[in-house]
Amino acid sequence: MADDTSLLLRASPVSASSWVSAPTHRIGGSLTVPGDKSVSHRALLLGSIAAGPIEVEGFLDSADCRATRTAVEALGVRVESIGNDRLRVTGPGPRGLREPAQPLDLGNSGTGIRLLTGLLAGLGIKAELTGDASLRSRPMERIAAPLRQMGARIEARDGHPPIRLAGSAPRNGSLTGIDYTLPVASAQVKSAILLAGLSASGTTVVRQPAVSRDHTERMLQSLGAPIVFDQTHAAIKGPCVLSGGHIGVPADFSSAAFFLVAGLLRAEEGLLIRGVGLNPTRTGLLDILRAMGGRIEIRDQRQLGAEPVGDLWVQRSVLRGIDVPPELVPLAIDEFPILFVAAAAAEGCTRVRGAAELRVKESDRIAVMARALSDVGVGVNETTDGMDVEGGGLRAGRVDSAGDHRVAMSMAVAGLAATGPVQISDIRNVDTSFPGFAELARSVGFALEAEG
Ligand code: S3P
Repeated sequence: MADDTSLLLRASPVSASSWVSAPTHRIGGSLTVPGDKSVSHRALLLGSIAAGPIEVEGFLDSADCRATRTAVEALGVRVESIGNDRLRVTGPGPRGLREPAQPLDLGNSGTGIRLLTGLLAGLGIKAELTGDASLRSRPMERIAAPLRQMGARIEARDGHPPIRLAGSAPRNGSLTGIDYTLPVASAQVKSAILLAGLSASGTTVVRQPAVSRDHTERMLQSLGAPIVFDQTHAAIKGPCVLSGGHIGVPADFSSAAFFLVAGLLRAEEGLLIRGVGLNPTRTGLLDILRAMGGRIEIRDQRQLGAEPVGDLWVQRSVLRGIDVPPELVPLAIDEFPILFVAAAAAEGCTRVRGAAELRVKESDRIAVMARALSDVGVGVNETTDGMDVEGGGLRAGRVDSAGDHRVAMSMAVAGLAATGPVQISDIRNVDTSFPGFAELARSVGFALEAEG
């Protein structure tokens, strides 16, 4: 294998907050990745309105979840740390949240802003919700339109944050349930409507064109809400009160995904990833990687409260490019950056279509990944709703993550299998989902150094 280290050494000085990920022949051992981001947000939000305290175990203490924590605290919720990754969330009672004095800043988090908007709309609370530059460019009309149909007074200028909720008098239960069909499969939109439906009068039904993650439905059910759901729809009868209790947060499958692919590329003697959430609405990447030839075993599958978990055993494999089945796209929606890296290291071409939603994530993940991969020598063809990736071309180079946490971590994995070091700029947002990524990666053998 050629070594392109000289390319990087000739480069000009690097900016702060970047990584260099150098090629590595072998990774291995075992690790546990941090808690699930989607489940952690939901535990805070549902804990805020439950009738009794909720203890959360395995909470993800990342920048996104901290933003949601600060927001619910501003609404009068008490959130106490009661030990290593354990929290107790005590709301002021089901109808007791107060109007926040200041705008609520949800940082980089689409889940935080969309789900909290639904919850507050249902309760008739006046509030303004905003976030960082990336969040302020993301589409919000997709939640505003159905919430308006339920009777909420909501504004989002040009369809983006800040979102303004006018509130209602009397405050609680002034919305009416609707029967709504989502134009795109989105768990955030579905959840925003269901959380508004919790406090609305009558039944709220959300129908989805394809399966999206169902953590909200599972958690609501586990806290006693009158909800029924399947792959096509969810229906909740409001108004209703949630009970307190215990929520176990699995390790985040989306964080495990970086190590799954790293293992397929370089774990000669295997790599074990422990206690990973295996909710079937999240694990599309497993099916895709196995179809590409990936050797991945699920061991000791078990239940953690409302969610299935298991250990993932992964071994170095020869990967082949495939046409990704469109029905798996929503089930792997956050994993495309790392899947594109697996495709770049495979033999042959991988084609992805039906993934236009990737353009409205923390960055435009089709454009940003196409650029990053071509900057490390990979042949790509960007389309409106996907990408073709030619395998076999990963080289040294410098890439820009565009402030997208998943792009930064994916390109760190690309460095493992490239012909020379990959330098990744703008890594600051890795902390939104995966604090400690670089240390954990080094512990299983990555040659990943911070620079700047
Ligand atoms: C999420 C849903 C997905 C996903 C996001 C988290 C959630 O977004 O991309 O990272 O927690 O509900 P969409 O609902 O926009 O697909």
